[in-house]
Amino acid sequence: MTGRLRLGVNIDHVATIRNARGGDHPDPVRAAEIVAAVGGDGITAHLREDRRHIRDDDLARIQSATDLPLNLEMAATDEMLEIALRHSPHAACIVPERREERTTEGGLDAAGQHNRLAPIVTRLADAGIRVSLFIAPEERQLEAAMRLGAPVVEFHTGEYAHAEGEARAVELRRLSDLAALAVKNGIEPHAGHGLTYENVQPVAAIPQIAELNIGHYLVGEAVFVGLEAAVKRMRDLMDAAR
Ligand code: PXP
Repeated sequence: MTGRLRLGVNIDHVATIRNARGGDHPDPVRAAEIVAAVGGDGITAHLREDRRHIRDDDLARIQSATDLPLNLEMAATDEMLEIALRHSPHAACIVPERREERTTEGGLDAAGQHNRLAPIVTRLADAGIRVSLFIAPEERQLEAAMRLGAPVVEFHTGEYAHAEGEARAVELRRLSDLAALAVKNGIEPHAGHGLTYENVQPVAAIPQIAELNIGHYLVGEAVFVGLEAAVKRMRDLMDAAR
């Protein structure tokens, strides 16, 4: 599965800045419009249980502002399931969530939570929502995703992003091996977390990976160069690596 690598831009942290003052500025919807104008392939937004960045009303506003597919990141809870069914995003990426964490620190334990995840995956799939599971690049998690019938997995690249030297090469090989195994088993592999201009290219070069979801770094760079320029540069680096 080679071909154009899609870029989903996670706009959560535009909302983080907005919420720091409790008002309406900066609006993540404006970020979504810029991503659409600059050729991004999708908008990713995580409605966390504590609503620390994206708020409920942002979802419909994002959906009506652009034609880009919305990838809703969500915890495996009944509340989030109902919200996903109500909004019917293009995709729902199920992520682990702990209230006290600063970000999504690890992958979903798809292997250990089969019974909790199975009805949620089924209901999302029955509603025509493309289900993705955010997992560590580990064989047992991929096998669990297969048992759950998820059409997509997103590999957590946090370990890769934090590693250096030989350790990074090891993490990259894991990502590459697991992406190949996913495709062999009919699952579309995506990747994301902690990706930057500096570390994106080796991941983008893995031919089976179909989509990257990148947020924090792009929003950070946007402070200095603007979101349009930041997304364009990331896109150019991805294309050059492919
Ligand atoms: N993909 C998923 C499933 C995530 O939870 C996150 C972080 O919210 C990202 C991608 C983007 O990670 P980052 O903000 O580090 O680029």
